[in-house]
Amino acid sequence: MANTQLPPADPEPSLNRVDGRLKVTGAATYSAEYPIDNLAHAVLITSTIAKGRITTINAKPAEAAPGVLAVISHRNTPGVPAYPPVKQPAERAPVGTAFRVFYDELIYFSGQPVALVVAQTLEQAQQAASLVEIDYQTETHQTDFVANRSKAAIAANVQRNKTSPFQDYDRGDPDAMPSAEVKMEATYTIPTQHHQPLEPHAIIAVWEADDKLTVYDKNQGVKSAQGNLAQAFKLPRENVKVNAQFIGGAFGSGIRVWPHTVAAVLAAKQVRRPVKLVLGRELMFTSVGYRPFTEQKIAMGATKTGILTAIRHEGIGQTSAYEEHLERTILATRAMYACLNVSTRYRLLNLDVNTPTWMRGPGDATGMFALESALDELAFALQLDPLELRLRNHADADPERNLPWSAKSLKECYRMGSEQFGWKNRKPEPRSMQVDGMLVGYGMASSLYGFHRHPSKAKAMMQADGSVVVQSATMDIGPGTGTAMTQIAARILGVSPQKVRFDLGDSSLPDAPGQNGSATIPSVGSAVHDACKALKNKLLILGASMPGSILSSAWPDEIVIRNGRIYPTAESRSSVSYTDILKYHKLPQVEMTEESKSGPERDQYSMYSFGCHFVEVQVSPVTGEVRVKRVVTCADVGKIINYKTARSQSIGGVVGGIGMALMEESVMDHRYGRYVTSDFASYHIPVHADIPQIEVFFVDQPDVHVNPIGAKGLGEIAIVGVAAAVANAVFHATGKRVRELPITVDKLV
Ligand code: MOS
Repeated sequence: MANTQLPPADPEPSLNRVDGRLKVTGAATYSAEYPIDNLAHAVLITSTIAKGRITTINAKPAEAAPGVLAVISHRNTPGVPAYPPVKQPAERAPVGTAFRVFYDELIYFSGQPVALVVAQTLEQAQQAASLVEIDYQTETHQTDFVANRSKAAIAANVQRNKTSPFQDYDRGDPDAMPSAEVKMEATYTIPTQHHQPLEPHAIIAVWEADDKLTVYDKNQGVKSAQGNLAQAFKLPRENVKVNAQFIGGAFGSGIRVWPHTVAAVLAAKQVRRPVKLVLGRELMFTSVGYRPFTEQKIAMGATKTGILTAIRHEGIGQTSAYEEHLERTILATRAMYACLNVSTRYRLLNLDVNTPTWMRGPGDATGMFALESALDELAFALQLDPLELRLRNHADADPERNLPWSAKSLKECYRMGSEQFGWKNRKPEPRSMQVDGMLVGYGMASSLYGFHRHPSKAKAMMQADGSVVVQSATMDIGPGTGTAMTQIAARILGVSPQKVRFDLGDSSLPDAPGQNGSATIPSVGSAVHDACKALKNKLLILGASMPGSILSSAWPDEIVIRNGRIYPTAESRSSVSYTDILKYHKLPQVEMTEESKSGPERDQYSMYSFGCHFVEVQVSPVTGEVRVKRVVTCADVGKIINYKTARSQSIGGVVGGIGMALMEESVMDHRYGRYVTSDFASYHIPVHADIPQIEVFFVDQPDVHVNPIGAKGLGEIAIVGVAAAVANAVFHATGKRVRELPITVDKLV
């Protein structure tokens, strides 16, 4: 039954990762690894209570310990210039206030940074940190989502903003649901989940002068970090340098500048030395956000023939007591299927926890778990094949915005995925397929993710020796940004990729967005495309102006460039090289910088990436153990720039989705408001033995409306829907519908 066909061959050989060798040999330098002179080491001390105030801090024994340079807290912080003056007595920050580090004595969550010990060595800092005595006055905290659910409310910032997409939404006929022929209703729960990249967050902060700051910081956006730190410390933007060239995974945890980063910058100011701060694994659970606990209720109505007549989707997300983190949770439901009558509601629940943040496929991975599980439940109620139900309700245009899609090949994804998977072999009845005493289940789900393109700049330079340098302050948190950009540049300029170097991860490079929202290829890829095209045109003009140039009478459309040599036509024997052109004009280099951004097409088309996942599980009827046996994943993300890195990106997303479905759960002991999962022994993520063969397919058709390269984002869509496909497969195997992730054995036996 297993399909042995291999994925289609890469249409052209994929460029290997340009930084692959650096990474596997350990030569790549990550934030904590920069060799900085006179470096001091910091250890963060965090609150052991979830709500209340610090009454005393006794730092004397720590300050007297060997090697200690400072113990910094709200009592002696040099202060963040942008923070308002502290009130006496301290007042709780109103909702909507970003957390202020070492600001006053108030505690908002367990794990809140309360002091930082700086010493000559890491060991001295660790030892001294154990000597700092902190007393608290506790107040009653609320950290339990389920117990506090009834307090969920429309976010204050949504109430203020009448055009917010999180306003209550109703389209069509409110009576469609009660009068539907077939109905389902269910509630789905996703626990708090933490991004756990292999590389923990880390920073080295260096004050080069009183008004000049350099940080080597793990983050997903050097430009946004630069802007944020410049604003916090009231420095001119250009006086702040942020370097983050290599990132060992992030998944959203590095989109914001977090308190520990600011704490390290404060410490470096205080001790007048460079300071390094690395978060241990335990601190990764309270310092850099998480996928928020959510509860979603979905009701659906359909005709007996499986045409959706009504959908209602209500979502509640967790946030902190001081900030409102909103996610797309309910938004996909408005656009995904052709349904006339749709209502969505979105509420937030403020708890005494740290603020959540975006985690791969933010909102959509959450919402599509519920929507795609619900569709599977509806298909079962209708006795209709789950794929057929989706095909019958395929949206040929965006039903929310009433706009044509810029491009949508979801049906082609369904066709490829189902064929490669062998979906036709699925027997409709749950528990009807078995092999070797194991229950076999087939499940599928659809996937979508919005298209994001932000203004981006790139600089392209042709050097006298024919080599090319392309620069942009974009990032690579893992997908292989530099490799794809190198490929785009090499194709346009007609040079070998080996001649191209792409620089990123440095705030002094041309302005580009951070790596998030699957926007890098669409945004920065377009800028690289435009800059290289402009550079090529400039070089062609310079070439044509050489006396007796073979290019002077060439038609631009007919020019062919191979290996840095320019031929007037594909048949020409004679050519001129880029190096000839620079040499003749006595130029050390020629450069062009271009900015690329969206135009009016944003209002003419609705733009999304689409995809689907097919999953086979085997479940032990005795122990309830679930093994994922096969996954086929298909994506329509427009043009694929590099098959190898794209496939790897898809595989990573599926692995994340399997973790979300079967393992990942951050458990809090609500008596203390504190996570008990604080390491990889307690917070489970998939290991190699948990991951089966994953086959990846792409439609690979350029979306001509989105940007000059026809490419949409892949990073997020790779995970969106995977958890539902696994849950649906588990239902098919066992007849048990698990609506509360993760699907652990206790829920199946
Ligand atoms: Mo992604 S959650 O936008 O890093």
